[in-house]
Amino acid sequence: MKTIIEPFRIKSVEPIRMTTAADRDAILQRADFNLFLVHGQDVIIDLLTDSGVTAMSSEQWAGVMRGDESYAGSESFYRLKGVITDLMGFEHFMPTHQGRASERILFDLIGGRNKVIPNNAHFDTTRANVEHTGAEAVNLAIPEASRPRERHPFKGNMNVAALEALIAKVGPERIPLVMVTITNNTSGGQPVSMENLRAVRAVCDRFRIPLFLDACRFAENAWFVRTREPGYADRSPREIVREMFSLADGATISAKKDGLVNIGGLLLIRDPDLFKRASNLLILTEGFVTYGGLAGRDLEAMAQGLIEVVEEDYLGYRIRSTEYLGEKLLSAGISIIEPPGGHAIYIDAAHFASHIPAEHFPGQAVVCGLYRAAGIRSCEIGSVMAGPHMRPSMELVRLALPRRMYTQSHFDYVAEACAEVYAQRKELRGMRIIEAPPVLRHFTARFAEI
Ligand code: F0G
Repeated sequence: MKTIIEPFRIKSVEPIRMTTAADRDAILQRADFNLFLVHGQDVIIDLLTDSGVTAMSSEQWAGVMRGDESYAGSESFYRLKGVITDLMGFEHFMPTHQGRASERILFDLIGGRNKVIPNNAHFDTTRANVEHTGAEAVNLAIPEASRPRERHPFKGNMNVAALEALIAKVGPERIPLVMVTITNNTSGGQPVSMENLRAVRAVCDRFRIPLFLDACRFAENAWFVRTREPGYADRSPREIVREMFSLADGATISAKKDGLVNIGGLLLIRDPDLFKRASNLLILTEGFVTYGGLAGRDLEAMAQGLIEVVEEDYLGYRIRSTEYLGEKLLSAGISIIEPPGGHAIYIDAAHFASHIPAEHFPGQAVVCGLYRAAGIRSCEIGSVMAGPHMRPSMELVRLALPRRMYTQSHFDYVAEACAEVYAQRKELRGMRIIEAPPVLRHFTARFAEI
């Protein structure tokens, strides 16, 4: 059989409220063309993010009922601890309410003025948390990462030569850790190879610098390693995950992605002293060490999610869904970041709306075009998100795929809608900003069509 089916049956459904193009036109006007200001009920297919929007399994919901809500020493914490030790080989970890809480604790402890944090590509909250401490966040992606149509199998890799050059330039004492983001969200959900991770590890060892992972999408990364990297075809995703984490001294994780939960995060740390200091900060702002800002039921759901996310049938279906959508857009002539990544398809909006210059936000025009035509919510990652002082290297629109939430026919609908908007792309109009906050403006900016 060629078709890879969704490897689950549906037990509980949520209705989608269908809207007309006229409804959506009025909704867009009311929201001043910012999709973050549109109600979820007014969206037909929501591809704004893959974070926290997962459909949980019946076993996870059963876990929600089993959750032990003890303030200290919750059984659910110990269940999660067992799963993490088994899957990731880490003894010390703490739950947090989401990824950025882990980032804040970590960088509070190791960041600060004069420090430099290299990463293949910082996610925006990671960068913000690094910079909040006064440290400098440096992106060291390989050059292929910024060439949308170049099909490199591990486009998320870190540029190892650039890392060595950075260490030589600033000195290892100013670099408290090196971070590698798997998969690399910013460059298109692209994976990092084991070979690259080992090479980064070797550099870190040479200069005695710890290596941390931003491991939100660790399972998707493991699947790419298995299917693309020589020597891994016969290894299970679990074994690959274990090997990946064995190279790291710690990790920040948003469980809202590959934890298959709606809320939650993790901070893994090997160094007992750093772990102790992090626990003290956790208690200060998140909660006691056995719940870290989550309910016992959340820990239970996460423990089960971490088991399900490395199942082969799940990962095969997951990565194929993204590739399937990518192939359909490519065959409609739409330019995307290639090859398709793990959790999202990134449309090249500068190509899609080539008649709209960057200062009139082609990405935002495409986002609004897709919503108006079909009720699809996507996200601009270009000049709007970059803010007034940065010129992004690409104008992108991200179609992020929630986990286990939509079926193949939903993706067929998305592909049809994209093809239709693309066929009539000359009708897309540029945007101007009529009101925007000084930072993170994409969340609340208000636009008008030109
Ligand atoms: N790191 C990466 C690579 C991420 O993609 C995200 C979140 C975070 C850290 C922060 O985690 O949201 O739990 O605090 N990415 C989401 C997205 C928001 O839409 O890409 P968080």
